[in-house]
Amino acid sequence: MENKQNFIRNFCIIAHIDHGKSTLADRLLELTGTITQKKMTAQFLDSMDLEKEKGITIKLKPVRMVYTVPDDVVVSSVLNENSDTTIKTSNAPTGAVRSNAKTFILNLVDTPGHVDFSYEVSRSLAAVEGAVLLVDATQGIQAQTLANIELAKKQNLVIIPVVNKIDMPAARIEESCDELANVLGIMPEEVLRISAKSGLGVEDVLHAIIQQVPSPEQRNPGAEQKPFRALIFDSTYDAFKGVLAFVRIMDGNVKDREKIELLAAKEQAEIKEIGYLQPTIDPQKEMFSGEIGYIATGIKEPGKVRVGDTIARVQPPNVERVQPLSGYQEPNPMVFASFYPENPDDFDLLKVALSKLKLQDPALVYEPEMKEALGRGFRCGFLGTLHVEIISERLEREFNLGLVISTPSVIYKLFDKRGQERVIYSASDWPDPSGIEKMEEPWVLLEIIAPSSYLGKLMDVLKDVRGNYLATDYLSAERAVIKYEAPLRAIVANLYDKVKSTSQGYASLNYKMLGYRAAKLVKMEIWIAGRSEEAFSRIVEEGDAYEQGKKLVEKLKEALPTQQFTVALQAVIGGKVIARETISARRKDVTGYLYGGDKSRKKKLLEKQKKGKALLKEKGRVNVPSKTFLEIFRT
Ligand code: GTP
Repeated sequence: MENKQNFIRNFCIIAHIDHGKSTLADRLLELTGTITQKKMTAQFLDSMDLEKEKGITIKLKPVRMVYTVPDDVVVSSVLNENSDTTIKTSNAPTGAVRSNAKTFILNLVDTPGHVDFSYEVSRSLAAVEGAVLLVDATQGIQAQTLANIELAKKQNLVIIPVVNKIDMPAARIEESCDELANVLGIMPEEVLRISAKSGLGVEDVLHAIIQQVPSPEQRNPGAEQKPFRALIFDSTYDAFKGVLAFVRIMDGNVKDREKIELLAAKEQAEIKEIGYLQPTIDPQKEMFSGEIGYIATGIKEPGKVRVGDTIARVQPPNVERVQPLSGYQEPNPMVFASFYPENPDDFDLLKVALSKLKLQDPALVYEPEMKEALGRGFRCGFLGTLHVEIISERLEREFNLGLVISTPSVIYKLFDKRGQERVIYSASDWPDPSGIEKMEEPWVLLEIIAPSSYLGKLMDVLKDVRGNYLATDYLSAERAVIKYEAPLRAIVANLYDKVKSTSQGYASLNYKMLGYRAAKLVKMEIWIAGRSEEAFSRIVEEGDAYEQGKKLVEKLKEALPTQQFTVALQAVIGGKVIARETISARRKDVTGYLYGGDKSRKKKLLEKQKKGKALLKEKGRVNVPSKTFLEIFRT
């Protein structure tokens, strides 16, 4: 009897942002008849509004496709030794065998494309056996492509290299194939060439997946006989069924209504429903090892169903406990920022909104905090700066919340004279410098891929972040990888944008943590009309403070609306002003409606205005709109 496991292929598409992952997924869904062309909204997998706008994939979603290989299919290379799945060709040399048509289950697991989500990428890679590595022929390999290849290799995935967008006039097809071949150690002819847009060559991708990606059984023989274990690689919320965990069943089988346990969260539940997503929900009575689908947990509490956790069957106390699958990590925030509602009455709404977002995004962490000037808000931890931006935009858009957001900060370690360590998450927690003996901050290894002609200019940008140059490796004659060590603080301060603008968008950047190193830092405050505006405070490098202070007050002058009185903007360190700008008063024409020459009347009105301004100034507080906070936050 044929093992049905032999006909399952679990795979993902890994690609740099915009290299065409969603477009290829659309074509695969169409080709397999999973979703008809008519029904297909362009880019089915990128269904969230914000994702569409930013053009990046954030949510992971699995889709199950059923595909019958036509028996006259021409496939040029047969790489799989598994005879069950070998596809013979009809017009192959005489003697070649015509296969019987075979039906395969193809599970596509979506992966987020951005470096901020690399833990989640690694979990979705752990759910599959193969990866289609997609590279845009007009762009070539990008820094995140390299990072993803590294992750895929670590998971021991079969990689199917594909060069996309070959229909475009600017496509550098041969160069891109050479680069891929170079990095993967294969021949350029082994790289598939497609247009995900027109569909050209896409069927070959399907066939390559079937031929080259191992079946779950090949990778993990005997899994069906083992006790049930499933890996959670994503989740979503359903008001009736609780958290739906998207899972790969690694071992054994699971039945609807069984009692389960989440091993890391130590949470028990009774299954409300199990099934596939094709792409809509398709409930099943039982699911088996190798399959991918959802388990409705009934769990209503946010944060309990985490990416990377293992689901097992609840065991009687005398039975040996099932071990969790390896690789689970507590979400590890790298960047912190404080969120305050613009309207203090919205605090509860913000709390609910954050808990809802956390459901879909366990990496988001938050706890309430209180600041004199801002009232009640939350200190939130993120994976990186893109993550901060996505969450803040979703809060504003989906929950209609006006927000005040502090400058993001990394986690610093301070040591006092007795060697006692203190961890600092935001500039407002920075203590009096006299008590600090030693400071440390996180450093990262940066990789920037760029055309060789931009290397010089990029080196200048990197000099500004005060990192250490390590090496330059050439991918081809025209493109190179620069390796650099730098403080994470520099990336939080938008190194991405600097690298992009310096290279006119041609360079890409990726980083990974190296650990903590000694630092010389100071807290810089921003005073508006003589008052410290705590949300603008930031930690800067001592030697760089003057330059940063100057830039910040200049930017603030541009961003802040004029007031009815003159406003001083000052950058201050330890009570000492290091930079200053002034916004002149806006003179509202209070006399405009007076015709003719009633001078005394005019004078009287101007006097009245002057008094009003003095009063305002005495009251003193300049209302900083959240737009200004955001604008400064982006600089
Ligand atoms: P992320 O969701 O950010 O990871 O992007 P993506 O990789 O899903 O890219 P997406 O499919 O959204 O494609 C990006 C852009 O490239 C879109 O405008 C597509 O229409 C276009 N595109 C994708 N494939 C092709 C192709 O083969 N040819 C041409 N000409 N354009 C393509």
